[in-house]
Amino acid sequence: MDLFSMESLLLFLSFFIFIFIYLHHQFYTTKTPFKTYPLLGSLPHFILNRHRFLDWSTDILRHSPTQTAIFFRPGTVHGVITANPDNVEHMLKTNFHNYPKGNRFLFLLHDFLGHGIFNSDGYLWKLQRKTASYEFNTKSLRNFAIQNVTVEIQTRLIPLLQRASETETVLDLQDVLERFAFDNVCKLAFNVDPACLGGGSTAGNGFMRAFEDAATLSSGRFMSAYHWLWRIRRFLNVGDEKRLKESISTVHAFADEIIRSRMEAKGPTNTDVDLLSRFMAAEDNSPGFLRNIVISMILAGRDTTSSALSWFFWILSSRPDVKEKIIKEIKSVREKRVCGESSAPFGYEELKEMNYLLAAISEAMRLYPPVPVDFKECLKDDVLPDGTVIKRKWFIMYHTYAMGRMENIWGKDCNEYKPERWFDFDEDGNQVWRSESPFRYPVFHGGPRMCLGKDMAYIQMKSIVASVLERFEIDAVDKDTCPEHILALTLRMKGGLPVRVRVRL
Ligand code: HEM
Repeated sequence: MDLFSMESLLLFLSFFIFIFIYLHHQFYTTKTPFKTYPLLGSLPHFILNRHRFLDWSTDILRHSPTQTAIFFRPGTVHGVITANPDNVEHMLKTNFHNYPKGNRFLFLLHDFLGHGIFNSDGYLWKLQRKTASYEFNTKSLRNFAIQNVTVEIQTRLIPLLQRASETETVLDLQDVLERFAFDNVCKLAFNVDPACLGGGSTAGNGFMRAFEDAATLSSGRFMSAYHWLWRIRRFLNVGDEKRLKESISTVHAFADEIIRSRMEAKGPTNTDVDLLSRFMAAEDNSPGFLRNIVISMILAGRDTTSSALSWFFWILSSRPDVKEKIIKEIKSVREKRVCGESSAPFGYEELKEMNYLLAAISEAMRLYPPVPVDFKECLKDDVLPDGTVIKRKWFIMYHTYAMGRMENIWGKDCNEYKPERWFDFDEDGNQVWRSESPFRYPVFHGGPRMCLGKDMAYIQMKSIVASVLERFEIDAVDKDTCPEHILALTLRMKGGLPVRVRVRL
């Protein structure tokens, strides 16, 4: 071939490639509100905004006609991000079998959680779900949970707040609540008290720190633009992956020791009420499988309630009107008591009566959901109710944080904190609770994989708030600035929540 025809061929090829890239790019641009770049898809836009992912993606969904956007990632699978309740119902319930967590997701958390309930699909998930949902509905587990919460409040939380008020110490309330929740869920999972709130044993504190690291570093893998990046680091055992490996081995060793000693003992008895004993009694499970179940439970119940309450107390600091109504409700429940029981901790039936408190907590979680986004994988090509086409193996993410901020779901005042929106009025003008569809408010997920700990979480949160607000004034040091958040598996505040505590007069 002479030089002239070679040049023509190269020119023709370059032109052809240019046209291909141009059309490809035009195609993506028309399909998604994310900014797309030739060859790179939406990745540069994502990388530039990764540090403020929640607000950036909320903005994009708000401006999409169906609150859904396709995320193009050339060289790897694409995905759909949605804040559309019909799509959420479709993926979580109507077409549940087409949207498992999927191998990509399960693989990210597998080193830490194995195939525990939180990290499994299909048969293995069903098996654990069946036993767990039976146990979560038993009165004995509920009583065990209430008893643990009450003891932790009376013997640790209140004395700690009392000391802080006397010494005028600024407390990190998020840290306090996380320690509370960790003690609590460990008691529930395997009846071990790490006593993290009370200063803690060395082993208990080490377990909590390692658990914290393992959860944060595992979730860091989600934010990797390409999965092979963290896999290379894991292979070389360097950086975050090295730390992750160390923290996982600390967590596993702690849990394995408890399971081993439980198995060596005579086996569970009628007095063993924690989840581990219940799973040991229900099936002939291997120690490894039991460990995965227990660790999944701790992960599921650990940072969720503390996240919810940290945002709740921050909001309340600048809403004395809401605080007053909660205190009024607590007082009215107290006043119904017979003499002699006036200072005893609140019982289950009393907590159930506190509907305004329920609304105030639910409203805080609407704006600051503890699990702000959640992922599934599409098994077979499908069309979502809003018309979005989704292909096999694409990821789909429903965006709970964005859904709390959508006008078409919550109205023009969607950004306002307003517990009253949780009530309707009956014909006689009485306030009645307005239940919300879990697909418009997927804070606890929905469908067959709905959160198992929802009732327990509300008991814990209401019990803490009622006991604390009855005795103390809690004021965020900087109540006018919205705390920055860290995006891990749960929505935590960067730098904690510094508060001042005063005894309520
Ligand atoms: C405010 C508190 C809580 C919130 C907002 C919450 C939210 C959620 C969400 C969104 C999921 C779905 C996660 C997913 O599948 O990717 C979930 C699952 C789960 N939650 Fe909760 N949770 C809370 C408290 C708890 C507590 C205290 C427990 C008890 C230990 C618990 C136990 C579970 C379990 C076992 C699952 C897995 C269910 C399954 O996959 O079948 N949760 N939760």
